[in-house]
Amino acid sequence: MRLTLAATEPEIEATPGWFNHGDRILALVEQQKPRVCVELGSWMGASAIPVARAIRRWSGALTCVDTWSGTVGHAGGAPMMVWSFARNVFEAGVAGNVRMIAAPSVEAARWWREPIDYLYVDADHSYEAVIADLHAWVPHVRPGGLIVGDDYGHRNLPGVAPAWDEFCAQHGIRLERHQSVPPHPDRIEVVYATVEESCLISLKKKRSQ
Ligand SMILES: C[S@@+](CC[C@H](N)C(=O)[O-])C[C@H]1O[C@@H](n2cnc3c(N)ncnc32)[C@H](O)[C@@H]1O
Repeated sequence: MRLTLAATEPEIEATPGWFNHGDRILALVEQQKPRVCVELGSWMGASAIPVARAIRRWSGALTCVDTWSGTVGHAGGAPMMVWSFARNVFEAGVAGNVRMIAAPSVEAARWWREPIDYLYVDADHSYEAVIADLHAWVPHVRPGGLIVGDDYGHRNLPGVAPAWDEFCAQHGIRLERHQSVPPHPDRIEVVYATVEESCLISLKKKRSQ
Protein backbone atom coordinates (compact mmCIF):
# COMPACT_ATOMS: atom_id res chain seq x y z
CA MET A 1 0.00 0.00 0.00
CA ARG A 2 1.34 3.46 -0.89
CA LEU A 3 0.11 6.39 1.16
CA THR A 4 0.23 10.06 0.34
CA LEU A 5 1.69 12.07 3.17
CA ALA A 6 1.54 15.80 3.57
CA ALA A 7 4.83 15.63 5.44
CA THR A 8 7.33 18.43 5.77
CA GLU A 9 9.23 17.08 2.75
CA PRO A 10 6.48 16.02 0.32
CA GLU A 11 8.90 14.98 -2.39
CA ILE A 12 9.87 11.90 -0.37
CA GLU A 13 7.70 8.90 -1.19
CA ALA A 14 5.66 7.60 1.73
CA THR A 15 6.51 4.26 3.32
CA PRO A 16 3.85 1.51 3.20
CA GLY A 17 1.78 1.49 6.38
CA TRP A 18 -1.00 3.29 8.18
CA PHE A 19 -0.03 6.79 9.24
CA ASN A 20 -3.68 7.86 9.52
CA HIS A 21 -4.20 11.57 10.15
CA GLY A 22 -0.50 12.17 9.62
CA ASP A 23 -1.10 15.88 9.02
CA ARG A 24 -2.72 16.37 12.41
CA ILE A 25 -0.08 14.33 14.23
CA LEU A 26 2.75 16.23 12.57
CA ALA A 27 1.04 19.52 13.45
CA LEU A 28 0.89 18.45 17.12
CA VAL A 29 4.54 17.44 17.01
CA GLU A 30 5.45 20.76 15.43
CA GLN A 31 3.56 22.63 18.14
CA GLN A 32 5.00 20.65 21.06
CA LYS A 33 8.54 20.07 19.75
CA PRO A 34 9.07 16.82 21.69
CA ARG A 35 12.61 15.46 22.03
CA VAL A 36 12.12 12.12 23.76
CA CYS A 37 9.63 10.32 21.55
CA VAL A 38 8.36 6.74 21.69
CA GLU A 39 6.26 4.90 19.14
CA LEU A 40 4.54 1.62 20.02
CA GLY A 41 3.91 -0.27 16.77
CA SER A 42 6.06 0.84 13.85
CA TRP A 43 5.64 -1.87 11.21
CA MET A 44 7.62 -0.62 8.17
CA GLY A 45 8.09 2.95 9.39
CA ALA A 46 5.20 4.87 7.78
CA SER A 47 4.52 6.83 10.96
CA ALA A 48 8.03 6.69 12.42
CA ILE A 49 9.84 8.21 9.43
CA PRO A 50 7.91 11.51 9.13
CA VAL A 51 7.97 12.00 12.91
CA ALA A 52 11.71 11.27 13.09
CA ARG A 53 12.28 13.66 10.20
CA ALA A 54 10.34 16.43 11.97
CA ILE A 55 11.90 16.04 15.42
CA ARG A 56 15.50 15.85 14.24
CA ARG A 57 15.20 19.59 13.49
CA TRP A 58 15.31 20.22 17.25
CA SER A 59 17.52 17.18 18.08
CA GLY A 60 14.68 14.87 19.04
CA ALA A 61 15.02 11.08 18.85
CA LEU A 62 12.32 8.49 18.27
CA THR A 63 12.42 5.07 19.91
CA CYS A 64 10.36 2.54 17.97
CA VAL A 65 9.05 -0.43 19.92
CA ASP A 66 7.77 -3.33 17.86
CA THR A 67 8.07 -7.09 17.85
CA TRP A 68 8.61 -6.96 14.06
CA SER A 69 7.45 -10.55 14.03
CA GLY A 70 5.44 -10.19 10.84
CA THR A 71 1.95 -10.14 12.32
CA VAL A 72 0.32 -6.73 12.34
CA GLY A 73 -2.13 -7.22 15.14
CA HIS A 74 -0.33 -8.90 17.99
CA ALA A 75 3.02 -9.96 19.34
CA GLY A 76 4.67 -13.36 18.84
CA GLY A 77 7.75 -14.87 17.25
CA ALA A 78 11.18 -13.64 16.27
CA PRO A 79 11.77 -10.11 14.91
CA MET A 80 12.04 -11.20 11.28
CA MET A 81 10.82 -7.86 9.84
CA VAL A 82 13.30 -5.74 11.70
CA TRP A 83 15.58 -5.55 8.67
CA SER A 84 12.82 -4.06 6.45
CA PHE A 85 12.12 -1.41 9.04
CA ALA A 86 15.82 -0.60 9.47
CA ARG A 87 16.32 -0.37 5.70
CA ASN A 88 13.35 2.01 5.29
CA VAL A 89 14.62 4.21 8.09
CA PHE A 90 18.11 4.20 6.60
CA GLU A 91 16.85 5.03 3.10
CA ALA A 92 14.73 7.87 4.49
CA GLY A 93 17.87 9.36 6.01
CA VAL A 94 16.65 9.24 9.62
CA ALA A 95 18.62 6.27 10.96
CA GLY A 96 20.62 8.58 13.24
CA ASN A 97 17.68 9.64 15.37
CA VAL A 98 15.65 6.43 15.33
CA ARG A 99 16.25 3.76 17.95
CA MET A 100 14.72 0.33 17.87
CA ILE A 101 13.49 -1.96 20.62
CA ALA A 102 12.43 -5.32 19.20
CA ALA A 103 10.24 -6.54 22.05
CA PRO A 104 6.62 -6.73 23.14
CA SER A 105 5.60 -3.21 24.17
CA VAL A 106 4.64 -4.01 27.76
CA GLU A 107 7.90 -5.85 28.34
CA ALA A 108 9.88 -2.92 26.90
CA ALA A 109 8.10 -0.53 29.27
CA ARG A 110 9.56 -2.35 32.27
CA TRP A 111 13.06 -1.28 31.25
CA TRP A 112 12.27 2.27 30.14
CA ARG A 113 13.75 5.03 32.34
CA GLU A 114 13.54 8.38 30.47
CA PRO A 115 10.62 10.84 30.81
CA ILE A 116 8.77 10.80 27.48
CA ASP A 117 7.62 13.95 25.64
CA TYR A 118 5.61 12.17 22.91
CA LEU A 119 4.05 8.72 23.06
CA TYR A 120 2.30 7.26 20.00
CA VAL A 121 0.24 4.12 20.64
CA ASP A 122 -0.33 1.96 17.56
CA ALA A 123 0.66 -1.64 18.42
CA ASP A 124 -1.80 -4.43 19.21
CA HIS A 125 -5.30 -2.96 18.76
CA SER A 126 -7.28 -5.28 21.04
CA TYR A 127 -9.00 -3.70 24.04
CA GLU A 128 -6.77 -5.59 26.50
CA ALA A 129 -3.55 -4.68 24.70
CA VAL A 130 -4.37 -0.98 24.32
CA ILE A 131 -5.27 -0.75 28.02
CA ALA A 132 -2.07 -2.63 28.90
CA ASP A 133 0.06 -0.31 26.73
CA LEU A 134 -1.50 2.78 28.27
CA HIS A 135 -0.98 1.47 31.80
CA ALA A 136 2.59 0.41 31.05
CA TRP A 137 3.75 3.51 29.15
CA VAL A 138 1.77 6.58 30.25
CA PRO A 139 3.49 6.60 33.68
CA HIS A 140 6.73 7.23 31.75
CA VAL A 141 5.33 10.37 30.09
CA ARG A 142 6.53 13.60 31.66
CA PRO A 143 3.95 16.07 32.98
CA GLY A 144 2.81 18.11 29.99
CA GLY A 145 3.84 15.35 27.55
CA LEU A 146 1.68 14.32 24.61
CA ILE A 147 -0.02 10.95 24.08
CA VAL A 148 -1.46 10.09 20.69
CA GLY A 149 -3.46 7.07 19.53
CA ASP A 150 -4.41 5.76 16.12
CA ASP A 151 -7.47 3.83 14.97
CA TYR A 152 -9.90 5.19 17.55
CA GLY A 153 -13.40 4.28 16.37
CA HIS A 154 -12.18 1.93 13.62
CA ARG A 155 -15.15 -0.20 12.71
CA ASN A 156 -13.04 -3.37 12.55
CA LEU A 157 -11.06 -2.63 15.70
CA PRO A 158 -13.79 -2.20 18.30
CA GLY A 159 -11.53 -2.45 21.35
CA VAL A 160 -9.48 0.68 20.71
CA ALA A 161 -12.04 3.39 21.58
CA PRO A 162 -13.33 1.77 24.82
CA ALA A 163 -9.76 1.21 25.99
CA TRP A 164 -8.81 4.88 25.51
CA ASP A 165 -12.11 6.11 26.97
CA GLU A 166 -11.85 3.92 30.05
CA PHE A 167 -8.20 4.73 30.71
CA CYS A 168 -8.70 8.46 30.27
CA ALA A 169 -11.85 8.58 32.39
CA GLN A 170 -10.11 6.65 35.16
CA HIS A 171 -7.13 9.01 35.28
CA GLY A 172 -8.73 12.36 34.51
CA ILE A 173 -7.25 12.76 31.04
CA ARG A 174 -9.14 15.02 28.61
CA LEU A 175 -9.00 13.21 25.30
CA GLU A 176 -9.23 15.23 22.09
CA ARG A 177 -10.59 13.51 18.98
CA HIS A 178 -9.97 14.44 15.39
CA GLN A 179 -11.52 13.05 12.24
CA SER A 180 -10.52 14.17 8.78
CA VAL A 181 -12.93 15.81 6.33
CA PRO A 182 -14.22 13.79 4.55
CA PRO A 183 -14.08 11.07 7.22
CA HIS A 184 -11.76 8.12 6.80
CA PRO A 185 -13.63 5.18 5.15
CA ASP A 186 -13.21 3.12 8.34
CA ARG A 187 -14.39 6.04 10.53
CA ILE A 188 -11.00 6.28 12.17
CA GLU A 189 -10.21 9.19 14.43
CA VAL A 190 -6.87 10.13 15.91
CA VAL A 191 -6.95 10.84 19.64
CA TYR A 192 -4.52 12.86 21.68
CA ALA A 193 -4.10 14.39 25.10
CA THR A 194 -1.67 16.18 27.35
CA VAL A 195 -0.72 14.17 30.41
CA GLU A 196 -1.11 16.31 33.51
CA GLU A 197 0.68 15.81 36.82
CA SER A 198 -2.64 14.78 38.46
CA CYS A 199 -2.97 11.87 36.00
CA LEU A 200 0.52 10.65 36.82
CA ILE A 201 -0.26 10.80 40.55
CA SER A 202 -3.45 8.79 39.92
CA LEU A 203 -1.50 6.19 37.93
CA LYS A 204 1.21 5.86 40.58
CA LYS A 205 -1.44 5.51 43.29
CA LYS A 206 -3.15 2.74 41.32
CA ARG A 207 0.16 0.94 40.87
CA SER A 208 0.95 0.98 44.56
CA GLN A 209 -2.46 -0.49 45.52
C1 LIG B 1 -0.83 -1.20 12.75
S1 LIG B 1 0.84 -1.69 12.78
C2 LIG B 1 1.70 -0.18 13.07
C3 LIG B 1 1.58 0.73 11.91
C4 LIG B 1 2.59 1.84 11.87
N1 LIG B 1 2.50 2.72 13.02
C5 LIG B 1 2.39 2.60 10.58
O1 LIG B 1 2.02 3.77 10.64
O2 LIG B 1 2.57 2.03 9.51
C6 LIG B 1 0.97 -2.49 14.33
C7 LIG B 1 2.37 -2.91 14.69
O3 LIG B 1 2.37 -3.29 16.06
C8 LIG B 1 3.23 -4.38 16.25
N2 LIG B 1 2.78 -5.07 17.46
C9 LIG B 1 1.67 -5.79 17.66
N3 LIG B 1 1.59 -6.19 18.93
C10 LIG B 1 2.69 -5.73 19.56
C11 LIG B 1 3.18 -5.81 20.87
N4 LIG B 1 2.52 -6.44 21.83
N5 LIG B 1 4.35 -5.21 21.16
C12 LIG B 1 5.05 -4.54 20.20
N6 LIG B 1 4.62 -4.43 18.93
C13 LIG B 1 3.46 -5.01 18.61
C14 LIG B 1 3.12 -5.21 14.98
O4 LIG B 1 4.31 -5.96 14.78
C15 LIG B 1 2.92 -4.13 13.93
O5 LIG B 1 4.13 -3.78 13.33
